[in-house]
Amino acid sequence: MAKQTKVEASAHARALELLEKAVLTYDERLFVLENWNEAANHINGVAGAFFTPTGLAVDFAIDAGGGRTIDLCAGIGSLAFHVHWRRFYGWERNAPSPEIVCIEINPAYVEVGRKVLPEARWICADVFDFDLASLGRFRVAIANPPFGATARTGEGPRYTGRAFESYLIDLASDIADHGTFIIPQASARFQYSGVQCYRERPSAEYLKFTQQTGIHLEAGCGVDCSIYRDQWRGIAPSVEIVCANFEDMPGKACRAPTDPETELRSL
Ligand SMILES: C[S@@+](CC[C@H](N)C(=O)[O-])C[C@H]1O[C@@H](n2cnc3c(N)ncnc32)[C@H](O)[C@@H]1O
Repeated sequence: MAKQTKVEASAHARALELLEKAVLTYDERLFVLENWNEAANHINGVAGAFFTPTGLAVDFAIDAGGGRTIDLCAGIGSLAFHVHWRRFYGWERNAPSPEIVCIEINPAYVEVGRKVLPEARWICADVFDFDLASLGRFRVAIANPPFGATARTGEGPRYTGRAFESYLIDLASDIADHGTFIIPQASARFQYSGVQCYRERPSAEYLKFTQQTGIHLEAGCGVDCSIYRDQWRGIAPSVEIVCANFEDMPGKACRAPTDPETELRSL
């Protein structure tokens, strides 16, 4: 378990106190999201469990858009929370709220998530060992999954590499029309965050992923994730927000693989 500073430990203790309440106010929920420390009682590094900083989650919600949503690997609900409230205060205020489903493997995180975002349906499950199709179709899948070679219990439908995030996006493409994800910059097709200007720079990991799945990961509205780099707890990752239009892909089950050479030439 990671060492906490006195300030962090005291804020975490306050978050625990708040979680004793039956119902939390908006501000209390936000306090819990920002201060309940994923490393306090869990070995979160091995599990790749680093929660999204608030500013990044707020920006992410712009790219996530609207409609029935599934958050795969939801943690305590940072992304889902800001997607929900952005919709509530924005264009869906007078419309019935579309359902948000949060799936998370760690029961302690799910327990906190249920207090932070009771508006969502929480399912404690492994995304690789759960019949996601049984939940019906989603307009959008969102995730900040564990990255890279983090241990998994299962495979994706098409992708066969080593990156957890690529397996997860492959899974998501079968159940949602669109996807918005936080992934390592090294797995993206481009660099935008922390560089002078947008650059197409598909990594070997991205080329393998897109060849095997037919999925293209595009930049969203242009969030420079590097400005939040120091606000993660315990790490300072270089990440990008990527968006995919899964509707675009012909015949999902038998998607034609893309040739990486052609892909490179088209950039
Ligand atoms: C990087 S954290 C992000 C959490 C949250 N989405 C956020 O943005 O703050 C990844 C989360 O995925 C969860 N996780 C890891 N493997 C999983 C799996 N196979 N199924 C469901 N959740 C998983 C971890 O417990 C952790 O909470």
